[in-house]
Amino acid sequence: MTDREPRVRPVLAYLTWALLAAAPAAATELVGHGGAVRALAASSDGRLLLSGSFDTSLIVWRPDERAPLHRLLGHEAAVNAVALAPDGATAISGGEDGLLLAWDVATGAARWRLALESKVLAVTIEPERGLAAVGSADGRVRLVGLQDGTIRATASLERSRPTALLFVDDGSLLVATHEGAVWAVDAEHGTASERLSGSGFAITGLVRIDADRLAAASIDGMVRLRRLPDLALLAELAGHEAPISALAAQPGGARLASGDIRGRIVIWSLPDGRAERVLEPHRGPVWDLAFLGTPPALWSAGNDSIVRRWSEGDPPPEPVGTADSARNLAAATAPAGEGERGAKLFRACVACHTVTADGGNRAGPTLYRLFGRPAGSVPGYPYSESLAKSGIVWSEETVDRLFALGPETFTPGSKMPLQRMPDPADRAALIAYLKRVTTPREPTTEKGG
Ligand code: HEC
Repeated sequence: MTDREPRVRPVLAYLTWALLAAAPAAATELVGHGGAVRALAASSDGRLLLSGSFDTSLIVWRPDERAPLHRLLGHEAAVNAVALAPDGATAISGGEDGLLLAWDVATGAARWRLALESKVLAVTIEPERGLAAVGSADGRVRLVGLQDGTIRATASLERSRPTALLFVDDGSLLVATHEGAVWAVDAEHGTASERLSGSGFAITGLVRIDADRLAAASIDGMVRLRRLPDLALLAELAGHEAPISALAAQPGGARLASGDIRGRIVIWSLPDGRAERVLEPHRGPVWDLAFLGTPPALWSAGNDSIVRRWSEGDPPPEPVGTADSARNLAAATAPAGEGERGAKLFRACVACHTVTADGGNRAGPTLYRLFGRPAGSVPGYPYSESLAKSGIVWSEETVDRLFALGPETFTPGSKMPLQRMPDPADRAALIAYLKRVTTPREPTTEKGG
């Protein structure tokens, strides 16, 4: 070290550090789901995001605050589709369990539930007429009262599977299908007619750009812009080399974003249809995208259970498990140890479990003093009967089995959303971390494990 400017250097170093430190303070990742995030929706006031996951739960997020506002539990299998009314007051969700649920977003309470006979594949809301639309694997599209969940009309697509739904101004509902067709359903009477015949390539996303245009994404890797109401082809946007699995339009119609199953996201500027940014690598398939806030930031949902922001000036995505905000969230709820594998894996648990003496219960019981305690024994926590009566005592072996087999197998009937950790090394790291952070520091009479 030559130290020719001994007084200036430390200041500069500090400034650089402060600037770098300031950037990631913005939320870039929302961590809370325990499995792939399948669906995303944004409120038009820019304040709320709703995510639905393979872990069977939905989370209402206030992205500014990074933490989950509510976790909505009511589905019995993976959540496939979500929609949020523009005012952010009502949400609907549909799942593999064939349930359509409506939620009061402010309280997180379920308003009504409708049991359909087959998997729900797509949902949308038409706030002005108080309607929800739901497309299911039996080839039906139902129009449902948003307030009470009554079925107003049912349309049949003659065995085509609906993949995306979009209400348009003439009062009809456009329905895209697995065969690449687009149908129009009369929202009053449920009559359906084919408006665009099938290309053979499934349409996976249908969004409104503005009064005169929509965009459709397809598994052939193309985004197609079409004129409303006649659906005439206006432009084809080629930027993907894999099936497109997610599509979103920026409010106001200045941009589109598309994401594919190999993890590429393309932001398109409209109307010139130029690829403005290519965002890579998303970890694995992009299942959904949503624009939120002013200026609008793009959020993505994918297999790694994280909801991630991609806005101008955000740091590029980091390799698995090292993103700052995720670490901050874990650190805020769990003491020390960030950076280690077990702590990263515990990020899938923090939304539901605390580990400290004063942490208390969340959606799941506190894990404080877990090792050596009988399952279902935290006073005051409303356990499922099956866990409470399981006879399990939590130890390294039983926690290992819980995540090797998954709660639905190891403790059938448990309320913990299904979740497995197939890699034995991961389970060992998680258990080592859990043992360290859940065991009281002060000496006790118990033998620590
Ligand atoms: C979406 C919420 C949620 C997530 C995420 C979650 N859990 Fe749970 N967990 C629960 C619920 C709910 C219960 C209670 C289950 C019951 O009563 O059947 C539970 C119970 C448990 C129990 C048994 C506790 C006892 O007192 O008997 C353990 C151990 C556990 N979870 C560990 C974990 C770990 C480790 C993770 C992360 C890998 C995790 N959980 C992720 C909700 C969750």
